[in-house]
Amino acid sequence: MTSAPTAMTVADTDVLRDALGLLKDREQVAERLLDSSAKHSFDPDTELDWDAPLEEGKWFWPPELVSLYGTPLWKRMSLEQQQDLSRHEAASLASLGIWFEIILMQLLVRHIYDKPVTSAHVRYALTEIADECRHSKMFARMIQKGGAPTYPVSRLNHNLARVLKTVSTTPGSFACTLLGEEILDWMQRLTFPDERVQTIVRGVTRIHVVEEARHVRYAREELRRQMVTAPRWERELTRISSGEAARVFSVAFVNPQVYTNVGLDRREAVAQVRASGHRREVMQNGARRLTDFLDEIGVLRGAGRRLWRSSGLLA
Ligand SMILES: [Fe+2]
Ligand SMILES: [Fe+2]
Repeated sequence: MTSAPTAMTVADTDVLRDALGLLKDREQVAERLLDSSAKHSFDPDTELDWDAPLEEGKWFWPPELVSLYGTPLWKRMSLEQQQDLSRHEAASLASLGIWFEIILMQLLVRHIYDKPVTSAHVRYALTEIADECRHSKMFARMIQKGGAPTYPVSRLNHNLARVLKTVSTTPGSFACTLLGEEILDWMQRLTFPDERVQTIVRGVTRIHVVEEARHVRYAREELRRQMVTAPRWERELTRISSGEAARVFSVAFVNPQVYTNVGLDRREAVAQVRASGHRREVMQNGARRLTDFLDEIGVLRGAGRRLWRSSGLLA
């Protein structure tokens, strides 16, 4: 009877010390990100030459990162048709990027709603929202410049995300954010140095990679903290919801309308992409940094891990 209150006091002290440590860490991370934002931020409207004509014979996305690359269908396509597919896939990925960023902006606004407005953590979130505003406009401009249509996600995914971005501030939503950001980021890191690619696409991806590194850091650190502080049921839910998101994501990554729009049979193209070992490797390489991190902080366990496996993103 007498020892119980003492034990609880010690435990309470530990919890408090951990919480203070996490909050201090949160401020330090945000201060560093604010510093880096002050030094390396870009205005795409003035930084890039939007009036320069497109270059004849160049790709809009590195061929090895185009979904059909290396398949029997790809080998039957002319170079012109392959490059046209890269133009449509770049537009499809940019559309997906804008969708993610709009979700993320709303998530961030809701994340900071109850937090101290002068904290570095909130000031950095506002900085990131400003980054994403510029990015979304930049991606939209890139789609228009390339002349391909925009490619919205399916009605179902559009509405699933409407629910997520309206109600969730949990670790699950940060895990989903990272899923969107990190695979696209990995592809963009291979795109901006590639001289076979259109100059405007290289410029857009270079700006995005520089600014995105901070976003990934912010989301990772927040997710790491939340996976320590969240109740057990919420950590379990994060494992399952992120696994399910990975499954949806791997299917929705490229809008299959791109195949129809370059004159291919959509069903045959989708089947060949699904069967492509090269494509599986590309997607797993793109996801590896993320899956290593999620594994480290305990997201890839149990049923969640099985879902990640079935998405094809985890080997
Ligand atoms: Fe972005
Ligand atoms: Fe971002």
